[in-house]
Amino acid sequence: MKIFLDTANLEAIRKFNDMGLLDGITTNPSLMFKEGGNPKDAMEEITKIIKGDVSLEVVSIEYSGMMEEGKRLRQYGDNVVVKVPMTPDGLKACKSFSSEGIPVNVTLIFSANQALLAAKAGAKYVSPFIGRLDDIGQDGMKLIQEIKEIFSNYNFGTQILVASVRHPVHVVDAAKIGADVVTLPPAVLDKMMLHPLTKIGLDNFLADWDKLKSGNPDIKI
Ligand code: E4P
Repeated sequence: MKIFLDTANLEAIRKFNDMGLLDGITTNPSLMFKEGGNPKDAMEEITKIIKGDVSLEVVSIEYSGMMEEGKRLRQYGDNVVVKVPMTPDGLKACKSFSSEGIPVNVTLIFSANQALLAAKAGAKYVSPFIGRLDDIGQDGMKLIQEIKEIFSNYNFGTQILVASVRHPVHVVDAAKIGADVVTLPPAVLDKMMLHPLTKIGLDNFLADWDKLKSGNPDIKI
């Protein structure tokens, strides 16, 4: 399963990229707003740091505006995936971009039918928002299961990008289902690294090493 980071924060992107964890990045207008500054600078920098797919989102709601914006976004790099909303115009733009060989991420997917239509329109990725479904009392992970089952019946070539991830259990569940990608807020990736027994074990190892050294101060690894 590929791991994308769901952020426009350059510090977080550099931090996890240096660990070799990142296969790509997803952004959206809200994440750009959160970072402040000129989003163009962030887009330029992110596409330089990350070799894998970087989803940059259009803000037009009409087909022609989406096409113009998508083409401008692609100037940041060949790894830019144009992110369009799951609307009739978004699907039309998805079809046009994908016919030109430009990869598309169809975002704001909340049903299996929406995922099916985005796949038919040639999307490289569909982004079902599982956390937002959980928030309204629906089972977001059940949607991932449904889409996985539907996609495995056909040869769409569209990848399931699990979005709106809230916690590490979402990640394990998505991996068990066989989702292609999860896009994670930095805080979730931080939590995935931690286990209390790892900390206790390391503290004990270091304490014992200090005891060993106190009898032999010249010892070094
Ligand atoms: C996906 O591409 C979106 O940027 C994101 O996962 C939305 O998550 P949220 O529901 O936490 O805003």
